[in-house]
Amino acid sequence: MRRAIFPGSFDPLTNGHLDIIRRSAPLFDEMIVAILNNADKAPMFSVEERSEMIAAVLPSVETGNCEMSVESFSGLTADFAREKKATAIVRGIRAVSDYEYELRMALMNRRLEPTIETVFLMAGEEYSYVSSTLMKQVFELGGRVNGLIPELVEERMRKKSSRAK
Ligand code: PNS
Repeated sequence: MRRAIFPGSFDPLTNGHLDIIRRSAPLFDEMIVAILNNADKAPMFSVEERSEMIAAVLPSVETGNCEMSVESFSGLTADFAREKKATAIVRGIRAVSDYEYELRMALMNRRLEPTIETVFLMAGEEYSYVSSTLMKQVFELGGRVNGLIPELVEERMRKKSSRAK
C-alpha cells in the first residue's frame, strides 16, 4: 500500500494544486490532501471551508485508482505523515525559486522522519506562476483569475469579498 500526503495551506486551492494531484495520483494507492491548520496566519478561508472546497472539487480530477481524502493537521508535517503511515510527502515545484525552500523542508522532514521520502513533481508550465497568495491579491484588486483556480473557489472568493464590503 503506497500512501502519500500532499500537505499545504490551500488558501485557496488553485489549478496548480489540482495539476500536482493529477500528476501524482498514479504513483500512489492513497493520497491525503493535508491542510495545515496554521494558527499564526490569518487565512482567507477557514480550514473547514478549505476542506469542503477541496472535497467538492476533487471528483473532477482524474485520479484513477488512487483513493483520495482530505484532512487537516496541526504541528509538524513529518509527524502527521508518520501518524498516517504515509511513505511519501508530495510537493510541487513551479520554478527554480521554489527549490531552495522545498529542499530545506524536504531535508528537515527527512531528518525528522527518515523513512518518509519527499516526492517532487514539476507543475505544468501553465501554472508555473500560480500561487494562492498571488490569486488572492489579483482577485482582491479586481483582476481576472479564471482558469487559474477552480470555478467553485472563484465563486466562494466572490461571495466572501461581497460580504466583506
Ligand atoms: O502551501 P504551503 O504554504 O507552501 O505549504 C507549506 C507547508 C504546510 C507544507 C509547510 O509550511 C509545513 O510543512 N508546515 C508544517 C510545520 C512543519 O512541519 N514545519 C517544518 C517543515 S520542514
